[in-house]
Parts: sequence; structure tokens; C-alpha cells
Amino acid sequence: MAVATAPKQAWPPWPPVFFLLLLPALGSSGNCPAVCDCTSQPQAVLCAHRRLEAVPGGLPLDTELLDLSGNRLWGLQQGMLSRLGQLRELDLSYNQLSTLEPGAFHGLRSLLTLRLQGNRLRIMGPGVFAGLSALTLLDLRLNQIVLFLDGAFRELGSLQQLEVGDNHLVFVAPGAFAGLAKLSTLTLERCNLSTVPGPALARLPALGALKLRELDIGRLPAGALRGLGQLRELEIHHWPALEALEPGSLGGLNLSSLAITHCNLSSVPFQALHHLSFLRALDLSRNPISAIPARRLSSLVRLQELRLSGACLTSIAAHAFHGLTAFHLLDVADNALQTLEETAFPSPDKLVTLRLSGNPLTCDCRLLWLLRLRRRLDFGSTPPACAGPQHVQGKSLREFADILPPGHFTCRPALIRKSGPRWVMAEEGGHAVFSCSGDGDPAPTVSWMRPQGVRLGRAGRVRVLQDGTLEIRSVQLRDRGAYVCVVSNVAGNDSLRTWLEVIQVEPPNGTLSDPNSTSPGIPGPFFLDSRGIAMVLAVGFLPFLTSVTLCFGLIALWSKGKGRVKHHVTFDFVAPRTSGDKNSGGNRVTAKLF
Ligand SMILES: *[C@@H]1O[C@H](CO)[C@@H](O)[C@H](O)[C@H]1NC(C)=O
Ligand SMILES: *[C@@H]1O[C@H](CO)[C@@H](O)[C@H](O)[C@H]1NC(C)=O
Ligand SMILES: *[C@@H]1O[C@H](CO)[C@@H](O)[C@H](O)[C@H]1NC(C)=O
Ligand SMILES: *[C@@H]1O[C@H](CO)[C@@H](O)[C@H](O)[C@H]1NC(C)=O
Ligand SMILES: *[C@@H]1O[C@H](CO)[C@@H](O)[C@H](O)[C@H]1NC(C)=O
Ligand SMILES: *[C@@H]1O[C@H](CO)[C@@H](O)[C@H](O)[C@H]1NC(C)=O
Repeated sequence: MAVATAPKQAWPPWPPVFFLLLLPALGSSGNCPAVCDCTSQPQAVLCAHRRLEAVPGGLPLDTELLDLSGNRLWGLQQGMLSRLGQLRELDLSYNQLSTLEPGAFHGLRSLLTLRLQGNRLRIMGPGVFAGLSALTLLDLRLNQIVLFLDGAFRELGSLQQLEVGDNHLVFVAPGAFAGLAKLSTLTLERCNLSTVPGPALARLPALGALKLRELDIGRLPAGALRGLGQLRELEIHHWPALEALEPGSLGGLNLSSLAITHCNLSSVPFQALHHLSFLRALDLSRNPISAIPARRLSSLVRLQELRLSGACLTSIAAHAFHGLTAFHLLDVADNALQTLEETAFPSPDKLVTLRLSGNPLTCDCRLLWLLRLRRRLDFGSTPPACAGPQHVQGKSLREFADILPPGHFTCRPALIRKSGPRWVMAEEGGHAVFSCSGDGDPAPTVSWMRPQGVRLGRAGRVRVLQDGTLEIRSVQLRDRGAYVCVVSNVAGNDSLRTWLEVIQVEPPNGTLSDPNSTSPGIPGPFFLDSRGIAMVLAVGFLPFLTSVTLCFGLIALWSKGKGRVKHHVTFDFVAPRTSGDKNSGGNRVTAKLF
């Protein structure tokens, strides 16, 4: 009101000065510029799409809405609009503005909304927005802005919403957002930024919602958003290069809603989310995430909604949502889930919305719970349908009657169908393979354990192959013992015990003539130490050779009858006590077998 009455008070003392000032500038002040429409709305001057190259003269002083969009304005000089002190909304979108002089909007102290999208602005320097102390919305989208310099928005202390998408922005100076004390929503989209401008964002004390969309940023470093203590809503949308979220990347935040969608995350970033105990809604849709493991979300105690549609989910583990007592919405539409077990939810009865369409569901006993809740649950526009077994294929869950025909939604417990021998022998250093496979409905999983309960993994020297075969490479003596094959499915399990016997192997025959083989205890007969030489000399060479040959013959015969359980061989030569009869076999040769 003070603004409106000021000219009236000024009227009587200096009428000529007043007219001199106003007439050339505004033409018929209080009327309407000829090219514009002032009749459709009160206090509105609508001049859109009039091919104007400059702001028309003669704008009524009480104009509240000025629409100059879709014209050919190319510049805005200082003071051009300064008399429109009551202007609340100024639309300069889709013109050819490339420069805004500092002070261009001076005097627009009532302006709330300024639309500058679709122009050719390049640099936002300090001072451009001076005087816009009431502005709450500034739209700068679709320009060619490359830089935001320090202090670019310093005067906009009332600004709540800033739109800066679709620019060439490569750099945001650390102090660019200084002064935006009330900014609550910031959208940065389709820019050329290669990093998140953390230091600039940290100057936004009131920021409640941050939307970072369609950016070619591959990393959100630890602490990148530190300082945004009031941020409740964070949206990271369409960052194709983002493959993981570092553990501290959401550090310092206290979010209630987080969306990281259309990115390249291959797993749920549990570590980064861990501290968000006030998080209510989490959206990780359209990321190549394949599983929700058990109990990893339990620190998000207030989580109510999880959206993970259009991902690559093949499994949601039992107890996946453990600890989430307020959980009531799950959207996992368009994934590769064959089932969703009741045990995933702490209390399935609290579930209100379940989007599960577009999954190849197998309608067996595991989905009975869903059938039971099918009338109460909100399935969205498409209820889930059975992809198998064949007799219910394509049938939607809603179509089943309360009394099921026999064979519907049933399971068959796992049974071992085929297995290898129960007793397997393998040589030390060799290779052992145990096969085992099961039958059941749903198809059972095969696992192997040691009798002590140690489950064997999929990697290492002893490993379980994809098809359920147990493979042991370079068998060692300690591998000897029992191995238990367990086939199991939701309806039951079956197990079978197999024994591995390890045969200790004699060293390869080559060692006897291998000059490098000097291991004690295995002296070759043809490599005599000094003691042996002395003995040969004492006994004479021929008797020595005879006894050695005889001995070898005996050993060969014995081992032929006994099989292959022969190990290290040592020969112990004892020199005769006396130099008696050389043919009487006074020397004693013993062969030790062990
Ligand atoms: C921003 O990215 C677009 C598309 O990738 C490109 O055409 C443009 O030249 C880039 N601008 C700058 C300033 O790097
Ligand atoms: C997504 O990540 C995978 C590897 O995890 C990579 O091969 C692929 O190129 C990435 N996609 C994009 C668009 O960056
Ligand atoms: C986190 O935000 C919630 C509201 O979502 C608020 O109640 C709580 O006090 C905040 N906690 C901290 C530590 O700021
Ligand atoms: C097999 O089933 C029994 C009960 O039927 C259960 O106690 C046991 O833990 C199961 N074993 C495995 C390995 O799943
Ligand atoms: C010893 O090993 C070689 C090959 O390394 C083989 O040709 C030879 O028959 C073996 N001799 C005996 C006695 O086993
Ligand atoms: C025997 O040892 C020598 C060096 O001590 C080595 O060069 C040679 O390759 C070895 N021969 C065999 C068969 O291991």
C-alpha cells in the first residue's frame, strides 16, 4: 500500500516534473501498449509472441503480470523495468536475451516469479539480480550458461526454487549460491558438470530438496553433500556412469526420501544408506540390481516404501526386510523374480501395496500367502500373473477361486535323483569329482558340506560347480573323509554321504636317476655316498650288484601281488663284520617299506 500511495502524495507539489519524467518513457501511462493484451486478466499485460525486439513502452504502473515470452528481446538494460514496483510475475522466456546487465531488474521489489528459460544467457555474473528481494522462483533452464560466478545470486534472499537445467554448466564457483538463505528446492539437470558442486551446495542452509538429473557424473565422493543438514529429499536420476555409491557419499545427510534411478548400480548401496534412520522412501528403480539379501536394510528403521522396478532382480532373500516394522509398499514390477517368499517381510499383513507384475512367477506353494492376501493387497493396475507351472500359465492371481483345484500352488520336496559312487578313491595330487543332483518342485538347490557342517563354497581348490558337482583339485591327504550332498527346496531336503579315500603316491620313478633329487631317505642305488663306496670296495662289486638285483626282484614281485600301495623305499646296507667268505652272503641288505 505504501508503494501505491507514494505517487499520489507526490502529485500536487511537482505535477510538471512528474509528466516530464513519465510521458516519454511510458507513453500513455496507466493504459496499455498497443501490441499487448491487457483485458484478459486484471493487472496483466500479455505480450507473448508479438515479435517484439524491446520492452514496449506505456506499461501500466500497476501491472502485476507481464508476459513477454516468445519475442525477440535481445538485451535488458539497467532500469528498463524499474518503475513496475508492483510486478509480481515477469515472463521473459523464449527470447534471445544473451546479456543481462547488472541492475537489469532493479526496482522490481514485489517480483515473485522470474522466467528466463529458453534464452541465450551465458554467464551469470554478480549483481544481475540486484533488487529482487522478494523473488521466490527463478527459472534459468534452457540457456547456454557455462559458469556461475561467486555471488551470482547473492541478492535473492527470498528465493525458494531455482531451476538451472539444460545449460552448458561446467563450473559452479564455491560461492555461487551464497546468499540463497531460503532456497528449498534446487534442480540441476542436463548440464556438463563432471562433479557434484559440493562446496557451492554447502552454502544452501535451507535446501530441502535436491534433484540432480541426467548428469554425466560417475562418482559421488564421500562427504560430497555434507553441509546440507536440512536436505530431506535427494534425487539422483539418470547418471549412467554411476556404478556404485561410496560408503560415505551420503554422509552428513538426514534424508526422508532418496531416489537413485536409471543409474548403473549393480547392488543396493547398503553401506552408504546405513545411517539414514529417518528414511521413509527409497527408490532404486532401473538399476541393474540382481538381489536383495537378507537383513541388510534393518538400520533403515523407518523405511516404509521401497521401489525397485525395472531392475534385474532374481531373488529377494528370506528376511530381506527384517526390522522394517513400518514397511508397507514394495514395487518390484518388471524384474526376473520367480517367487517372493512370505518370510521376506517382517509382517506380511502390514503390506498395503505390492507391485509384482512383469515377473516370471512360478505359482507354487511359495506364493500361497500372496493368494491368501490377493483381495486385500493393492497390486496396481496389473495384478501379478503366473508364468508357470504350465497348467496355470498366464493366469492372474486375482482369477483363482478360494478353493483351489488339486495340484495348484503345490510343491514337491527335493529328492536326490542321481549321484556318483558312495566311495571315491583319488591319488594325492590328483583330481576328484563327486556328482549329485536332485529333483523337486521348485527345482532344488544342491550344496555340499563336510560332516562338521562346513559348507563348501564355489571357489577354491575344493569347490562346488554350477551344476552341483563337487570338485577337488590337487587332492591332499587331509581331504580324506566324508562329504555330504544336500539337495533342498522350500518343501524339504534330502542328503547323501560320500567318502573320499586318498592314496598316497610314491614319488615318480624318474627321481631315482634324477641328480637333483637329493632328498634324504631316498638315496638312489646308483649314487653311493662315501660309506657305500667303502662298502662296495670291502664286499667286492659283483656280490654287491647281485644282492641289490635280488632285492629289487623281490620288491617287484611283492608289489605286483600287492597292488600300488608302495611308498618310499630305502636301502640299508650293513658291511660284513668279518672279511669271511665273499660268496656266503655275509652282507645283509634290508629293504624297508613304509
Ligand atoms: C556440453 O555437452 C554438450 C553435449 O554433450 C556439448 O554439445 C556441449 O558442447 C558441452 N558444452 C560445454 C561447454 O562443454
Ligand atoms: C554399467 O556398468 C557395467 C559394469 O558394471 C559396464 O560394463 C557398463 O558399460 C556400464 N554402463 C554404462 C552406461 O556406463
Ligand atoms: C532428521 O530428520 C527428521 C525428520 O525427517 C527429524 O525429525 C530429525 O530430528 C532429524 N535428525 C537430525 C539428527 O537432524
Ligand atoms: C533339512 O530339513 C530339516 C527339517 O526337515 C532341517 O532341520 C534341516 O536344517 C534341513 N537341512 C538343510 C541343510 O537345509
Ligand atoms: C619311469 O617313467 C618313465 C616316464 O617318466 C616311463 O617311461 C618308464 O616306463 C617308467 N619306468 C618304470 C619302471 O615305471
Ligand atoms: C636340476 O638342477 C639344476 C640346477 O641345480 C637345474 O638347472 C635343472 O633344471 C634341474 N633339473 C631338473 C630335471 O629339475
